[in-house]
Amino acid sequence: MRTRDDCLELDRRDGLAARRDAFVLAPGLIYLDGNSLGPLTRSTRERVVATLDDEWATGLVRSWNTAGWMAAPTRVGDRLAPLIGARPGEVLVADTLTILLAKLILGALDLRPERSVVLGDAANFHSDLYVAEAMARRAGRPISFRAIDRDTLDDELGEDVALVMLTHVDYRTGEMLDLAGVTARVHGAGALMLWDFAHSTGAVPLDVTAADVDFAAGCTYKYLNAGPGAPGFLYVRDRFQGVIENPLPGWLGHARPFDFERRYEPAAGVQAFVTSSPSVIAINALDGALDAFDGVTMDEIRAKSLALTDLFIELVEARLPGAFTLVTPREHVRRASQVSLRHEEAYGIIQALIARGVVGDFRAPDVCRFGFTPLYLGFVDVYDAVEHLVAVLERAEHRDAAYATRNPVT
Ligand SMILES: Cc1ncc(COP(=O)(O)O)c(C=O)c1O
Repeated sequence: MRTRDDCLELDRRDGLAARRDAFVLAPGLIYLDGNSLGPLTRSTRERVVATLDDEWATGLVRSWNTAGWMAAPTRVGDRLAPLIGARPGEVLVADTLTILLAKLILGALDLRPERSVVLGDAANFHSDLYVAEAMARRAGRPISFRAIDRDTLDDELGEDVALVMLTHVDYRTGEMLDLAGVTARVHGAGALMLWDFAHSTGAVPLDVTAADVDFAAGCTYKYLNAGPGAPGFLYVRDRFQGVIENPLPGWLGHARPFDFERRYEPAAGVQAFVTSSPSVIAINALDGALDAFDGVTMDEIRAKSLALTDLFIELVEARLPGAFTLVTPREHVRRASQVSLRHEEAYGIIQALIARGVVGDFRAPDVCRFGFTPLYLGFVDVYDAVEHLVAVLERAEHRDAAYATRNPVT
C-alpha cells in the first residue's frame, strides 16, 4: 500500500499540480464532487464580472453586436469542440441537457420515418428516460420507447429501431461504454446514435469524429466547471446539418432573425438548433471555465485521472477490506473518472465525510460516489480522503442522528 510520503512524491512529479491555482477552492477542502458540480475558476469569475461591467452595464443593448453576444453559442461551442473530438461548426452551447436531448430525439426520429422504436438504457439517468419516453409519445407517429438492459443491446437492435440513446458514462457506477464500438453496431443495424456525455466531457478523451457519432449532448456544470445550471451543449455531425430539423424552432435559429419574416427558414449549420436568446452571462461563464483546459490534453488528464482512481481503490481496499463493494469497473477501458462504493449506510457516510471537509455525494439507494478531477486534485488529497473515510467508520460518525433525515439534494 502506498504511503502518504509516496503520494507527496507523486504530487511533486505531477505536471498538472499547478492547475489547482486556477480554481477557487478553500484550503484543506478535498472536493470529490466535480462530477456533480465543478468548482469556480478564477477565469470564470473574471469573465462573468467583465460581462456584467464591460458588456452589459456599459454596452447595454449595443453589446449584442459589439461584444459578440449573438455568436456566443457557436463561438463557445467551437471552443468546447476539441474536448469531444468535434470539428468547428458542429457544437452549439444552449438550453440544458434534457432539453437538448428532447430536440435531438425528435429531430432524429424524422430521419428514420420507416422505423418505430427508440432504445434506451433502463439504468440511465431518470431525466433521459423521462424525456425519451415523452418524445416518443409526441413524435407525430406511433413510436415505442424501450428501456433495455444495455448489455442486451445487440439482441434488441432490430430493423424497427430508429434511434439508440445511451449515456456514455453511467452516473451511478462510473462505467464507461465503448463509444466507437457501440456506435458502429447501432449503425450496422441502420439506426442512429445519440450519446449523453454528461459524465464524460472534460473527464475522459472523446473522439466523436473517429467514432462516427451522429448526435450527442452534454452538460457543462460537472467536469467543465461552468457553474450551477450552466447551459448544455449539443453535437450534430456535419453530414446531418441542414438535414435534421430543430423541433423547437425559434427566432434566433432563423436564417435572418432580424428580417422578422413570417415563414421559418432555418439558419445554416448547428445554429438552426438555437431556439431563444442565448444566456450570455452563463455562456461567458463557460468560456471562462474552459481556460482551465488551455494547454492541457485530454490524454494528460486521463492518465492522471486513472492514477487517482487506481490509488483510491487501492487504499480503500487496503485500509477498509470488505467494508464496501466496488461498483466501478476495475478495467481502465471501462472506468471513467469516478469511483462508486456500495454500502448500506452510504448516505450517513457521505454526510460524515462532508462534515470532515471531504465532499462526495450519495446516489440512492446505497452508493457513495467520488469524482476525481485531475485539474485540482492531488495524490495526497486521495490519501487523506481515505484516512477520513477510515476515521468515519472507526468512530461510527456516519450513525450520527443528524443524518437520519436526507437533505433534498444528496
Ligand atoms: C446523465 C445525465 N443526463 C441528464 C442530466 C440532466 O441534466 P440537466 O439538468 O442539465 O437537464 C444529468 C444531470 O446530472 C445527468 O447526469
